Formats: sequence, structure tokens, C-alpha cells
Amino acid sequence: MAIAKAPRYSSTWLELREAADAQARAAGLAQQVQRHLTGPLVVHDLGCGTGSMARWLSPRLPDPQHWVLHDRDADLLEIAADSIGSPAETRLGDLTAITAADLAGASLVTCSALLDILTYDEIDRLARACTSTGSPALFTLTVIGRVDLAPWEPLDNVLCDAFNDHLRGGSRATGRRPLGPAAADAAAEAFRRYGATVQVRETPWRLGADRAGQAGCAGDAELIAEWLRGFVSAAAAQLPDSADLGTDAYLERRLAQALAGDLRVTVEHVDLLALPAPRGSHGVSFGTPRFDDPSISFGGAQLMPKDAPPMMAGMAIPFRSDKAAREPKKKPMCASGSRNSSTTIRHRP
Ligand SMILES: C[S@@+](CC[C@H](N)C(=O)[O-])C[C@H]1O[C@@H](n2cnc3c(N)ncnc32)[C@H](O)[C@@H]1O
Repeated sequence: MAIAKAPRYSSTWLELREAADAQARAAGLAQQVQRHLTGPLVVHDLGCGTGSMARWLSPRLPDPQHWVLHDRDADLLEIAADSIGSPAETRLGDLTAITAADLAGASLVTCSALLDILTYDEIDRLARACTSTGSPALFTLTVIGRVDLAPWEPLDNVLCDAFNDHLRGGSRATGRRPLGPAAADAAAEAFRRYGATVQVRETPWRLGADRAGQAGCAGDAELIAEWLRGFVSAAAAQLPDSADLGTDAYLERRLAQALAGDLRVTVEHVDLLALPAPRGSHGVSFGTPRFDDPSISFGGAQLMPKDAPPMMAGMAIPFRSDKAAREPKKKPMCASGSRNSSTTIRHRP
């Protein structure tokens, strides 16, 4: 596979976010997938970075395990292979053209914080590759375009919409259009199209708040600050009038709040588990979405709180799409941009 020229992810940033990622991921989905696995495991981690997903998932899976770590960044691959604590091999290459042959023999395919940087076609190819190898897929921490800062400021919404434009490729003249906030929805739909059963869980980062979601907590200040710098700078790059809007002053104000432990940030993600149709069943199914209500997202996948108990399995919990979710209650919530406000993909863009 050729290696496309693309932005690199700093190992410092990936390490800084690792604890928040670990806390956010849906352990219940990992438990479920574990029940579908037998024998020595071969786990493919796509876009492994420094190996954060393997460090989180490996203790939740039975031994023996062999990890196949994929990334286009050789430096990150080396860090990952040296640090995950399980036997591993590395595959340096571009995942956008992945095929079933690349995943042959996989017991499980995983990724974390990857889907939202892929395009519709790349996600479709990936879902097809996973389902045709018969491997379950556990795809974690896909952003869905919603961010909530407390205390709220009007500029939050402007920046969030602009940031979502950035995720979708924004003004970059590459011609490549990542799905950004719509990626999880597209993935759920693609897996279902290829006959898999899909479950989705909300897995937000809740930064600057303790587990009970009450008091501010300075412990996340460094992560919030780094996230804020990236968020504001990427958003401002999409806004021709960012100087007039006061984005520099906004960033300074927000950084000061973060350092003082006075800022809470919720960044919404979802985790997706796709279990392929049992071997011998009629493979590809073009099932209709389970819900007719267009406000329900994720192509009819089941969306549940991440710690939903097992008895909830099979109960569909409607998930309101961005428009409904954005209806202000106490204060507005950021959501994906008005130019593409729905996270439900029903037609190829
Ligand atoms: C946001 S980071 C996530 C890293 C890691 N999964 C984690 O959760 O910490 C995305 C990773 O995917 C890799 N990546 C992005 N696009 C890729 C592509 N087209 N082919 C291979 N690797 C890619 C990047 O190099 C980076 O390591």
C-alpha cells in the first residue's frame, strides 16, 4: 500500500489523551466482542498511533493474542510495537485502500479515533473488508460533531460549526472529503449493508469534571488546554472573519479557565461494534433501517449509553439527530455545521 502525504499526529498529543480515551471507551462493547472470540487471537489495530487502543483492549481479551499494528507513521508504529505488552507485528502503509486480503485471518479488527478522518468510500471499503473476512469490528471514539463547554459562550457554537467544517476537509484544497461528524453514521450503515449487526454507544470525553459530573477538576487542564488550542486554531482557519470574532481573546480566556479548573469540556464520540453475519447465512443484506423517524441517527443502529446493562441489548434507544439534540435546553449545544446538519447518511454524498 502506498503512503499518502498527510498530517502527522504527535506522540505527545496521543499520550496526553490516552487516559481520557481509556475512560471514555465502551467497556461493555469490549465485553460483548470478547464473547465472540475463541482460540489464539489475531487483532488488527488500524491507525494504531502509539498503541493506546491495544493497551486498553488487550487486558479485556483472552490470551494468547497477536496484534497487527497498522499505521502510515513509522515512528508511531515503533512506539506502539515496543509498548503494548503483547506480541505484535507492524504494517506501515495507507489504510484508505485496505482490502480483505490485508485482514485475512483477523479475529478482530479495531481502531480508535480514526473513522472520522476517512471518506465515505474508505469507510465502505473498510466495512466490506471486515465483513468479508468474517471478523467483528470494534471502532471506538469517532467524533460526532458535538462539543459542549461550560460555562457556555456564544462563540462556542460558531467555532464548533467551523471545526466540523474542518473535519469534513474544510477549505483544504485536497479534493478529499472526510466524513468527520457523519463517519460513525456512515460506518453503521455500511456494516449493516454488508449484513453485520451494529451497536453504537455514546463515549464522550468529560473533561474538567469528576466522575459524578459535579465539581471542576484542574487535573484535566493540560489536556483541555491542548485540545482547545487545536480546536480554536482549526476552527479559526475556516473563518475568514476570525480576527473580528475575537478568537485569540476567546482562546486566552478559555485557557485561563482551564488552568483554574473552571472549565468543563464534553467532546461527544461514539463506539461502534459490528458483528458479522454468521458464516453460512446469506451474507450481504440490504436491510431497511429499523426506524422511519428521520431524526433517529446511526442508520437504525442501536445507540445506548455506554454502560447499558446486558438486559438492554436488543432494546433500541432512539438517538435524536443533531437538529433535535441542538435544541437549547439550558444553553445551546454545539453540533455539526448548518451546512450539513444531519448526522444521518441516507444517500451517498
Ligand atoms: C487520531 S490518531 C489515533 C491514534 C490511536 N488509534 C489512538 O487512539 O491513540 C490517528 C492515527 O491514524 C493514523 N492514520 C491516519 N490516516 C491513516 C491512513 N490513511 N493510513 C494509515 N494510518 C493512518 C495516524 O498516523 C494516527 O496514528
